[in-house]
Amino acid sequence: MFRNTKLQLLATGAVLIATVSAICPVEGPLLARPTNLSKSIPVSAATRNLTKVLQSALNGTINPGFNTANTSFSVGIVSLDSPSPIWEFHHRGTANVNGTSKVDADTQYLVGSISKMISNLMILRTGVDTEAKITEFVPELKGKSAIDWESITFEALGAHLSGIPPNSGFSEFYYLLPVLEQLGFPPLTKDDFPDCGVTALNTACSKEQLLQNVLNYEPIAPPFQRPVYSSFSLSLLAYALQNITGNNYTELLNEYVINPLGLVNTGASPGNTSRAAIPPIDSSWGGDYLDNTPGGGLFSSLSDLSIIAQRTLNKSILSTPAEVRKWLKPSSFTSSLNSLVGMPWEIFRSTNLTPSHPHTIDIYSKSGGAFGYTSQISLVDQYGIGIIVLTAGPADAQPILSDLLAAMILPAAEDEARTQSAKYTNHLTAIDKTNVTIEMDLELDSGPGLKLKNFTRNGTSLLDSLEKFWSIAMVQFGPLDPDIRVHPADISNPAMMPNPSNSSTEIEVIKEEWLITFSTQPNTAARIGSELPGQGAMKDWCTSWQLAGWINWGGEPIDRCSSPVFEGDVKAINELKLETGVIEEEF
Ligand SMILES: *[C@@H]1O[C@H](CO)[C@@H](O)[C@H](O)[C@H]1NC(C)=O
Ligand SMILES: *[C@@H]1O[C@H](CO)[C@@H](O)[C@H](O)[C@H]1NC(C)=O
Ligand SMILES: *[C@@H]1O[C@H](CO)[C@@H](O)[C@H](O)[C@H]1NC(C)=O
Ligand SMILES: *[C@@H]1O[C@H](CO)[C@@H](O)[C@H](O)[C@H]1NC(C)=O
Ligand SMILES: *[C@@H]1O[C@H](CO)[C@@H](O)[C@H](O)[C@H]1NC(C)=O
Ligand SMILES: *[C@@H]1O[C@H](CO)[C@@H](O)[C@H](O)[C@H]1NC(C)=O
Ligand SMILES: *[C@@H]1O[C@H](CO)[C@@H](O)[C@H](O)[C@H]1NC(C)=O
Ligand SMILES: *[C@@H]1O[C@H](CO)[C@@H](O)[C@H](O)[C@H]1NC(C)=O
Ligand SMILES: *[C@@H]1O[C@H](CO)[C@@H](O)[C@H](O)[C@H]1NC(C)=O
Ligand SMILES: *[C@@H]1O[C@H](CO)[C@@H](O)[C@H](O)[C@H]1NC(C)=O
Ligand SMILES: *[C@@H]1O[C@H](CO)[C@@H](O)[C@H](O)[C@H]1NC(C)=O
Ligand SMILES: *[C@@H]1O[C@H](CO)[C@@H](O)[C@H](O)[C@H]1NC(C)=O
Repeated sequence: MFRNTKLQLLATGAVLIATVSAICPVEGPLLARPTNLSKSIPVSAATRNLTKVLQSALNGTINPGFNTANTSFSVGIVSLDSPSPIWEFHHRGTANVNGTSKVDADTQYLVGSISKMISNLMILRTGVDTEAKITEFVPELKGKSAIDWESITFEALGAHLSGIPPNSGFSEFYYLLPVLEQLGFPPLTKDDFPDCGVTALNTACSKEQLLQNVLNYEPIAPPFQRPVYSSFSLSLLAYALQNITGNNYTELLNEYVINPLGLVNTGASPGNTSRAAIPPIDSSWGGDYLDNTPGGGLFSSLSDLSIIAQRTLNKSILSTPAEVRKWLKPSSFTSSLNSLVGMPWEIFRSTNLTPSHPHTIDIYSKSGGAFGYTSQISLVDQYGIGIIVLTAGPADAQPILSDLLAAMILPAAEDEARTQSAKYTNHLTAIDKTNVTIEMDLELDSGPGLKLKNFTRNGTSLLDSLEKFWSIAMVQFGPLDPDIRVHPADISNPAMMPNPSNSSTEIEVIKEEWLITFSTQPNTAARIGSELPGQGAMKDWCTSWQLAGWINWGGEPIDRCSSPVFEGDVKAINELKLETGVIEEEF
């Protein structure tokens, strides 16, 4: 029954290498989120590098791939420690003669669909029930319609899951009519277009017209079937909120977002021309988006978006941290493993963003475009980092700058997280309740999080015992992956500890919870020895989330460790661990 673990490891060495890539560590931070990033050596090196490459692009030494004379931009990196960016860079295109003469963190840009993120934030901050049906508060939608309005909730609208068409009116291309007819599009007359909201043909739609026209729309998908991008959804949500609160969108925006967060350069277009970046090309600057404002008509600045990013990353932007965690989750998927959709996040999931330590990173982004403006805000909760790119000019600068910032800063954040986690890799010794010595070695190797290298109680290897235990009691989960990892549980609490330099006194510490993460080995033909076809078809299924906290011993989950950490004093932490032992692990 008991297998000889050491022999098995030798015999299955080749298989083990193959299974390492299938490890599924916890979702989210694999090591504690790095703090004090503005003082970090790798992060400072990366931001100095960013400044240098941007200067080189602007002085013509390297080709940025966009026209720097016609483009103004404000870019910055935010960390969860501070509402001011840890790094920022501004450029005013020489052809940009209008607007502000000095582009800085307070310069106003149209942010296009970043408005959707701000409007969703506003809705969540009002505390309305996001499961409410839109028909309850926009009674016009109870009319006869091919769209199943009764199934459409606030959340469906906010998260692009209503399946309704994206826009009303302005996605008609009447102004290109002669060109498109020449290109072979069927000929149309003015009467063929909607009666409102068509650029260059008629005036903006009134609320009554919008709600009348929308009843005639065909659905693009049934509600909750798949994500279908929608701007008009946000207008409907603004109508519903007006019904609930009695206040219009701009009033709600002021009351729930702009005033409480202290934003000074954010609002419904038109903004203040003397404070704006205005491109020399055709642009929407100065326009009034009327009822389309909630989905795309706001202006904002690097400073204001930094405040939103930082308060989101530190989980204080909604009434509880749990609500923020819920906001930073996908609501649906695309057909790509790399693209998920939230409310209204565009979530890019990649394993290639930190090449020296590849692992899954989710970037919660919202991009925005208005005529003459493109922008993107990106949040990486794993590192507590936000990346903000605002541009005024031709549309090509934004993706170039967003890629540049992400590719330079994320590897530096990973390096800093690893540097800060080095304090956990001491040989740890603890005395448990029964006066028996427990020892543990954590290693910062190339894999995810910390590796649990050695774990003994009174000299017996608990790692070996665990594998034997697993083969007796946990077989239904599949065999234990011997590569056992330790990750932060994202739970910490203040606690008191005996003072290591004066045992008659106590000191206040932060007790961090860490989790030992167990994974199981996938079913593969090589491991099982089965000659039946198809073995390994589902080998990428991630099991570790199903095993957290599962195994208890005397009322305690065995995968949970606590460790007190002095705020800001790494040296003291090491001494404390060595001298008094802090691992409350039992087996
Ligand atoms: C700066 O960027 C260049 C080009 O990407 C890279 O080769 C170099 O390692 C970077 N230096 C630092 C300190 O990040
Ligand atoms: C361009 O900027 C880079 C980075 O600041 C600098 O090293 C280089 O000397 C500059 N080149 C010219 C021609 O000004
Ligand atoms: C989050 O950051 C804000 C400052 O932007 C600060 O006032 C607040 O205390 C922070 N909250 C937490 C939980 O860190
Ligand atoms: C608000 O919604 C209620 C319930 O559907 C409806 O009776 C009322 O007429 C609406 N008010 C406005 C101003 O639309
Ligand atoms: C919203 O209400 C305010 C205050 O009543 C008013 O000044 C403003 O014009 C309204 N905005 C819209 C878009 O109706
Ligand atoms: C626009 O900005 C300028 C410069 O900051 C300021 O002097 C002016 O009062 C602002 N105008 C409005 C209407 O806020
Ligand atoms: C600057 O603004 C003026 C007045 O609105 C306009 O006539 C002119 O075309 C603008 N110039 C550029 C380069 O945007
Ligand atoms: C810059 O903008 C001007 C004015 O719209 C335009 O004539 C010119 O072609 C643009 N240059 C580039 C490189 O895009
Ligand atoms: C543990 O050791 C201490 C000091 O050696 C002793 O006072 C205590 O009774 C022991 N506790 C147990 C449970 O053996
Ligand atoms: C594990 O720790 C024990 C006790 O400190 C030690 O005897 C043993 O050599 C260590 N094993 C490894 C693989 O480090
Ligand atoms: C610890 O190990 C020693 C030596 O193997 C043994 O004599 C002792 O009984 C063990 N103590 C406990 C509490 O298991
Ligand atoms: C950040 O750095 C400052 C100054 O060096 C220090 O006072 C503070 O304790 C540090 N905070 C953390 C969380 O390391």
